[in-house]
Amino acid sequence: MGRRTRSVQVDLGERSYPIVLGEGTLDALGEAVLRHTKASAAAVVTVPPVGRRYAARALRSLRAAGLRAHRFEVPDGDATKNLRQVARLYDAFLEKGLDRSAVVVALGGGMAGDLAGFAAATYLRGLAFVQVPTTVLAMVDSSIGGKTGVNLSQGKNLVGAFHQPRLVWIDVATLRSLPVRQRAAGMAEVVKAGAIWDAALFERLEALGERLLEVEPELLLPVLERACAIKAEVVAQDEREAGLRMLLNFGHTLAHAIEALKRYRGILHGEAVAIGMVFAAERSEALGMSPAGTAGRLEALLARLGLPTQPPDFPRRAYLSALRVDKKRRDAHIRFVGLRGIGRAETVPLTPAEILPPRSGRPRSRATSTRKGRA
Ligand SMILES: NC(=O)c1ccc[n+]([C@@H]2O[C@H](COP(=O)([O-])OP(=O)(O)OC[C@H]3O[C@@H](n4cnc5c(N)ncnc54)[C@H](O)[C@@H]3O)[C@@H](O)[C@H]2O)c1
Ligand SMILES: [Zn+2]
Repeated sequence: MGRRTRSVQVDLGERSYPIVLGEGTLDALGEAVLRHTKASAAAVVTVPPVGRRYAARALRSLRAAGLRAHRFEVPDGDATKNLRQVARLYDAFLEKGLDRSAVVVALGGGMAGDLAGFAAATYLRGLAFVQVPTTVLAMVDSSIGGKTGVNLSQGKNLVGAFHQPRLVWIDVATLRSLPVRQRAAGMAEVVKAGAIWDAALFERLEALGERLLEVEPELLLPVLERACAIKAEVVAQDEREAGLRMLLNFGHTLAHAIEALKRYRGILHGEAVAIGMVFAAERSEALGMSPAGTAGRLEALLARLGLPTQPPDFPRRAYLSALRVDKKRRDAHIRFVGLRGIGRAETVPLTPAEILPPRSGRPRSRATSTRKGRA
């Protein structure tokens, strides 16, 4: 690697850990894992599109540092982020004789991280865990904060555990092979970090615009570092999601409804979040929380990243029932995250009907905007 790395500390007392970002750092993974875990064996858990490109380098580095390293693959995609795959991992770990001196290394996006992290949290009542995120979303969001888990057929992320990693090791060069649509979707969470927490970051994103989709480490590293620092700060102040961490749900109330209505098909999480953020910013303006023009700025930036900003066309009643999902009472309040302006968010208790007032015309009955000009 040679080049200097950047690092962000997640302050959680004795469970504190660093997020280290750099270019080409995959080849130095072994030493870093050894330094942070003292493990003698490593279980690298990955998915085929990532493993095929990067697992050999990760294993080589781990072995060079003196660890016994094994590779485990789970099928790609959220449909297999389930207990069956966790059970398969337990079997495979046992077969290799992995004991509590082993570390689980997740190599991949959020799906691999959540699944491997849950296996690490539960196998032998918990092994050390290291995240090596290879998507933008995993780098700035899912690898930080210790949430691990799997889906049930009844819903997403219904089973899980808090299990903080010992280290988050980021090599931005791995993003070169990530499809640009995935990169843009992950960037929506970076935009979110700026929108809720840091107006200066938001302005930097506006200055870079579409260049954020190129993998130019000099531009990308400071931006990713800042987004990681924001997530780290929020998590450090509120590890178990009592209050502040709720702000990270900006854009997510409508996003979850859209994802559910689309049955998780044809739309990436970050794309739904982009739509949800514009909607939430529009509602914030309508409620008099934020100055006029806030939603417009958000929409313009997201559009430059090729992200959709208009809700897909479903009837209002479909949106309402999706918003009411897992609410016991029909009119229970949802802690809706609104903006006070760019860089400042706040929760407001609203009922689904208040979130989506009858004649607000929102979500607008327009088709999701399509991306243009990019492969
Ligand atoms: N734990 C948390 O706090 C948290 C937060 C947000 C999301 N999540 C979870 O994260 C998951 C979504 O994560 P994601 O968006 O990273 O999706 P993902 O892990 O499914 O990855 C997206 C796709 O990109 C491929 N890929 C990953 N890295 C690549 C690379 N460098 N080159 C080429 N292809 C690559 C994957 O194989 C996959 O096909 C969901 O399961 C979600 O529930 C968890
Ligand atoms: Zn999200």
